[in-house]
Amino acid sequence: MTAASRFTVRDIHKLKEDGTPIAMLTAYDETSARLAELAGVPMLLVGDSLGMVIQGHQTPLPVTLDHIIYHAQIVTRVTTQPLVVGDMPFMTYNISPEQALANAGRLMQASGVGAIKMEGGTYLAPTIARIVQAGIPVMGHVGLQPQSIHKYGGMRVQGRDNVDAARKLLADAQAVEDAGAFAMVVEGVPVELGKMITEQVRIPTIGIAAGPHCDGQVQVFHDLLGLFDAFQPRHVRRYAEGAQVFREAIASYVDDVKNRRFPTDEHAFAMKPEVLAQLNGTETEDK
Ligand code: KIV
Repeated sequence: MTAASRFTVRDIHKLKEDGTPIAMLTAYDETSARLAELAGVPMLLVGDSLGMVIQGHQTPLPVTLDHIIYHAQIVTRVTTQPLVVGDMPFMTYNISPEQALANAGRLMQASGVGAIKMEGGTYLAPTIARIVQAGIPVMGHVGLQPQSIHKYGGMRVQGRDNVDAARKLLADAQAVEDAGAFAMVVEGVPVELGKMITEQVRIPTIGIAAGPHCDGQVQVFHDLLGLFDAFQPRHVRRYAEGAQVFREAIASYVDDVKNRRFPTDEHAFAMKPEVLAQLNGTETEDK
């Protein structure tokens, strides 16, 4: 990767080859994308987690392809370095490989992302293969698949207490690799399974709630910065107490406005004296 070019899937593979752990982060807008890029994040995900952290829903299910395109356009517009991956929302790829290909193509073309991501294992393999054949890099997503939350009855760690479920996840990961995905998110699996999947496949595994053995990690921007502090999921480490910092800052602003401490002369614009004099009718005649 040169200073002026974006990370590509080849660069992501190179990171794995070199044994360099890959730090991926979600981004949805100018602020999150710019801050992540400045911090050197090589791969950004415009995730359907925006349904929760931007739109205020309980699940990602209401997110549409147009929503992802809108946010991905911003992220690709304001960054020059990271590989931007666009998430395929619920029901935009599950009907048929043709439906998935048409929607993946639209997402790439309309937003400029360099890859797309889809949730699913063995059953999704033909769809992944179809999209990859068309020249679109696909990131898989196995383990806990948030778009299937109603099937699980909540966000539950997968493959933890049932050997068949664990074997199924290993088969899912293999199917995703065999179908041609360039990398895969491994979400919500026990540490041991995160390790086994990473040892089993050759493409980079990007973990979230999957332990430390994956080739990389992905986190949601708002979780990482403590912007959502109603509760802290076990897999999240807050690197800042953003909500607290911002709440205190906003409270100070409200207090300053109420008590006329803001704005001061420093934040205001004075009129030119001669214009003010004219306005007040106090200008002096030129001799
Ligand atoms: O939508 C998202 O942000 C995701 C990641 C958390 C993997 O799918």
